[in-house]
Amino acid sequence: MRILETRLLLWPDEDACAEFARHLAACPDLLNASIELHGSLGAGKTSLVRHLLRALGVSGRIKSPSYAVLESYELAEHGGQGLVSHFDFYRFGDPREWEDAGFRDIFAAPGLKLSEWPEKAAGMLPPADLQICIEAQDDDSRRVELKAGTELGLRLLPRSELGA
Ligand SMILES: Nc1ncnc2c1ncn2[C@@H]1O[C@H](COP(=O)(O)OP(=O)(O)OP(=O)(O)O)[C@@H](O)[C@H]1O
Ligand SMILES: [Mg+2]
Repeated sequence: MRILETRLLLWPDEDACAEFARHLAACPDLLNASIELHGSLGAGKTSLVRHLLRALGVSGRIKSPSYAVLESYELAEHGGQGLVSHFDFYRFGDPREWEDAGFRDIFAAPGLKLSEWPEKAAGMLPPADLQICIEAQDDDSRRVELKAGTELGLRLLPRSELGA
């Protein structure tokens, strides 16, 4: 992916993750963005998505899509325009599923796309607007690198580093 700009953030605890989620939720362009979430098992990818969905007004249960690959949400407040597709490609193995399950159509249409384990769908996923790379540190804090790949992605970056 071509990278236009990067930001480094440190999240001492999950509150900092929630604060970043609130920053993202307030970005007007978010609902058309494709965001990749990188990081090893337990890094906090699903946690960030949960905080983001809550910040966007989702009140029901938020499941991890690790088995279903996709969980989708319709944001009530956005007049039918707010579709959020949360993918976890960890168990994604059959490239035919990309077509058959309609994933190609989802990425070609408006809506927010959040992809965990995007490397497992490499070659199929279109280039992301933003990559979020989360790394757990020994003290349980998180080192987070944001990489904007498009103009839209640039508009999702917080103004300063080390804290949204
Ligand atoms: N910023 C943070 N600081 C400390 N702990 C965190 C932070 N973010 C998440 N956690 C905790 O770390 C765990 C992260 O689990 P989570 O399911 O979000 O990871 P994941 O990256 O989605 O893993 P997987 O690859 O299995 O899907 C949770 O228990 C969560 O409470
Ligand atoms: Mg997860």
